[in-house]
Amino acid sequence: MAKATKSAFTQKPRVVTTKTVIDMKRNREKITMLTGYDYLVAQLLDQVGIDIILVGDSLSNVVQGNVTTLPVTLDDMIYHAHAVKRAVKNALIVVDMPFMSYQNNEEEAVRNAGRIMKEVGAGAVKLEGGSYIAGTVSHLVQIGIPVMGHLGLTPQSINKFGTYEVRATEKREADQLLRDAKILADAGVFAIVLEKIPTALAKRVTQSIPVPTIGIGAGPQCDGQVLVVYDMLGLTEEFKPRFVRRYAELAETMRGAFRQYIDDVKGRKFPSREESY
Ligand code: KIV
Repeated sequence: MAKATKSAFTQKPRVVTTKTVIDMKRNREKITMLTGYDYLVAQLLDQVGIDIILVGDSLSNVVQGNVTTLPVTLDDMIYHAHAVKRAVKNALIVVDMPFMSYQNNEEEAVRNAGRIMKEVGAGAVKLEGGSYIAGTVSHLVQIGIPVMGHLGLTPQSINKFGTYEVRATEKREADQLLRDAKILADAGVFAIVLEKIPTALAKRVTQSIPVPTIGIGAGPQCDGQVLVVYDMLGLTEEFKPRFVRRYAELAETMRGAFRQYIDDVKGRKFPSREESY
């Protein structure tokens, strides 16, 4: 387990915008992103100077207990994004547009992305997919809604892929992914998440586009990194892909605390006189 340490990079939180993120690529400063779904965790992330908090549709899995990201609704996303927004002073808040909230047509995408921006006060939305959503991306950006792209393993397409294995290991898919990244950049995305693709491909993409890449299982050459916060905290114990580094073992810590509480109550050790009125 990696030890949590104090870091020079966590001292001075600053207000992060989509422009800040693009400038960070130009200045070769790594971008940090973690998911956040609730007030308390978002507050902690913001306090230590995380650059971006992603209200990811992974909340479908890790908060709601669904097998895939497909069931989470736009209202669910907005509910969690509100909680995050209340906590955050500096980080850029990006909210995932859930499955079938933008794929149907541009009009629906605008209406739904507009709800996220207007009701939550988010800084940007994230959409999965390549060239086929470029028109929608361009439209959203033109009306003032910043968009983060997401290529490679795109969990909303799990039923098409049939597996969560590494994507784009073959030349044809790798070439397509590179084309998609360029098309999304031309359409106006301010950053692109690259999920579970070979390191060499992520490096090629990173060098080929002017906007930052943020990797998850895409190696160290990306301009930034993202993890699901419950994975890196060691709460999702069953989920152990090699790209997840665990910075804590909170599941064990929490079980220990819960066991102790049960013992204390059953053994009449809690509450004490000092803890009573
Ligand atoms: O929903 C999510 O958490 C994500 C990250 C894995 C990038 O999209």
